[in-house]
Amino acid sequence: MKNGIYYSQELDIHQDIQEILLTTEEIQEKIAELGKQITGDYTGKNLLLLGTLKGAVPFIGDLARAINLPLEIDYMAVSSYGNSTQSSGVVRILKDLVIVEDIIDSGHTLHYLMDVLRQRKPLSLRVCTLLDKGRERIKPVKLDYMGFQIPDQFVVGYGLDYAQRYRNLPYVGILKPSVYEDDMTEPQKQHQSPAEDA
Ligand code: IMP
Ligand code: MG
Repeated sequence: MKNGIYYSQELDIHQDIQEILLTTEEIQEKIAELGKQITGDYTGKNLLLLGTLKGAVPFIGDLARAINLPLEIDYMAVSSYGNSTQSSGVVRILKDLVIVEDIIDSGHTLHYLMDVLRQRKPLSLRVCTLLDKGRERIKPVKLDYMGFQIPDQFVVGYGLDYAQRYRNLPYVGILKPSVYEDDMTEPQKQHQSPAEDA
């Protein structure tokens, strides 16, 4: 017991990580670059950063602070859109939208999101993702701003979760397979539908 807190093996989230892929410093360095790029591209525009809940929350916070422009921030729960891609008489979004994503895997989630947003006829629509698994896409999507390409392995940290855990790791790491081996569902399988929480 230290400072009234129990430290035990079970409470240490770092022990479930097989390998750190991206350190806090590497992530922040890349975000500074992306922020500069976006600052240059959106000068004089009406920028709205639109983060996907919940994985992109740490990323959008750091990214917004790396952009030296007036901007707005909003969040979108992909699951709340259900299956309705049909919208009738929806209000136009008179903004230059940048969707901020944590990770693109099959491209399914992003493709769906862009379909929904296009119906709102924004002034412009681009995508900024921290991670790209670089695997063959089920749905083709253009990534305008991309942080890192990573191998096709299940990663957690810096917003990314496994079963809602590990989002608070300050780095991106590969989760030890032993953590999910006993589970009925593989982590990848849990995220296949864009209707699920991303
Ligand atoms: P996609 O629809 O296949 O492109 O998957 C994108 C979504 O799946 C992301 O928004 C994440 O929520 C989730 N996802 C994909 N790969 C990982 C991973 O390695 N770790 C955690 N979540 C992931
Ligand atoms: Mg997720």
